[in-house]
Amino acid sequence: MSILVTGGAGFIGSHTVVELINAGFEPVIADNFSNSSPVVIDRIEKITGKRPTLYTGDVRDVAFLTDIFEKENIESVIHFAGYKAVGESCEKPLMYFDNNFISTIKLLEVCEKFGVKKFVFSSSATVYGIPETVPLEEGMPLSCTNPYGRTKLVIEDMLRDIYKADNSMSIMLLRYFNPIGAHESGLIGEDPAGIPNNLLPYITQVAIGRLARLGVFGNDYPTVDGTGVRDYIHVVDLAKGHVKAIEWADKNTGCEAVNLGTGNGYSVLQIVSSFEKASGMPVPYDIKPRRDGDVAENFCDPTKAKSLLGWQAEYGIEKMCIDSWNWQKNNPNGYNN
Ligand code: NAD
Ligand code: UFG
Repeated sequence: MSILVTGGAGFIGSHTVVELINAGFEPVIADNFSNSSPVVIDRIEKITGKRPTLYTGDVRDVAFLTDIFEKENIESVIHFAGYKAVGESCEKPLMYFDNNFISTIKLLEVCEKFGVKKFVFSSSATVYGIPETVPLEEGMPLSCTNPYGRTKLVIEDMLRDIYKADNSMSIMLLRYFNPIGAHESGLIGEDPAGIPNNLLPYITQVAIGRLARLGVFGNDYPTVDGTGVRDYIHVVDLAKGHVKAIEWADKNTGCEAVNLGTGNGYSVLQIVSSFEKASGMPVPYDIKPRRDGDVAENFCDPTKAKSLLGWQAEYGIEKMCIDSWNWQKNNPNGYNN
């Protein structure tokens, strides 16, 4: 039996495919490479010794999906495919609504047609909106502050409705906190197009000399040192969370939202200093104004992941920084070497 992994060539998807193969599953990747490279497939094979089956195409295309479901014995789906940049979603909301909503709706229709009932969705900490208190627990109020966040929130609601209509489904809404790091082989990692929006890829590109200096967005937040605090999680830990989610779906029915984070918050300056220590590379920075839409502090309560899935993050911030740097150092230009 196979697991369809949409967006399986992307940052989190590729690491998840590796962990699925390591755990004995048979992932089938569907990706249109709109934000990834086919080289990823070779790298996954190098790491695991197995080449995952690849279908190149768009998840919004029902004929493309139907072909996969007809040829492969798909038992469950992990749906990563979608756009993810908050700023871009504010400039091009329709593009985000089209890709994120339509891909999910078409995929769910094809799942229904083929009787596939196990569905793991990539949600995000963004569904907590601007939190009033931390740590964030799954039962806390949900909201959104931008079109990207709206797609995650509405898709979560859609999946809750779908479960209400069909109680034989197993649906996992995995709310990721801030994934960083890379596979320790240095063969796969995060390869953002253009100038990175996220902190870690920005830092690694400063360290490798692609960018001159990091801008730190605000040092007047009510946090340990005034800079923003986030719950960074090693992408390999996150990937292993998906294996646990699939194992849960194999044995249970239900629709459950689960935080995937470490439960620990680190400030921007703490991350800079951990990275400098781990890499031995200086990261010069300037304090800049706050970035629109940023919250002061964001970290999760990961208790439910442990009790429901038997999962908890293993890697700390040092390992996250070492592996992020190892990936960047070995691939100065990402997959375009
Ligand atoms: P990514 O961009 O690296 O991966 C997404 C993959 O999906 C890419 O390989 C892309 O080519 C593919 N894709 C996009 N639209 C497609 C379509 N219509 N058809 C087929 N393939 C398509 O992103 P990621 O960081 O790996 O994120 C994966 C998922 O996790 C996304 O849904 C994202 O919103 C969610 N998420 C990411 C983060 C994060 O910080 N990285 C945080 C929370 C949630
Ligand atoms: N930051 C900087 N300089 C940069 C980039 C980021 O100082 O160049 C700071 C931000 O202000 C924030 C922290 O580093 O305090 C982390 O920022 P990221 O952009 O890496 O991550 P965010 O927490 O802002 O965003 C992440 C995901 C989004 C998701 C959001 C809310 O990337 O997809 O969490 O959950 F919507």
